[in-house]
Amino acid sequence: MKPRELPIKELIEKLKEEHASLPATIDDAVITYKTGNLSGAFPVIAEVRETLSQHIIDEEGVVLKFLIDKIGKEASEPYIKILQDHTGIMKMVEQSVESTYTGWTETENDLNALKETLAKHHKQEEEELFPKVLSLL
Ligand SMILES: [Fe+2]
Ligand SMILES: [Fe+2]
Repeated sequence: MKPRELPIKELIEKLKEEHASLPATIDDAVITYKTGNLSGAFPVIAEVRETLSQHIIDEEGVVLKFLIDKIGKEASEPYIKILQDHTGIMKMVEQSVESTYTGWTETENDLNALKETLAKHHKQEEEELFPKVLSLL
């Protein structure tokens, strides 16, 4: 997967849209699952994984790279810390996918935990990382 080729400002808009829509997509997976439609819920979780994979590549490969080029690695440290959440987030996504293979009993909890972690992470990106990058354009 390669970073999306968009100007930084538009890319950040896109990332914010995804922050706004991911919780509803995750809810969708839970609702679909709860109605007993397992084969319908799986693609929704797969879509969350796909969206987040691209999203993370863009944040690390474009947004962070831009920041480091502009202000250097040392000054970028607090922002690098925010993006280090990505490892844990993708682990939670994989955990959610795996729990669907073993009977879905844990999937709802996994997805709700993912949603909570994402909410905190997105808030930090929108309050700290994105404004910093936009101020340097
Ligand atoms: Fe992120
Ligand atoms: Fe993000």
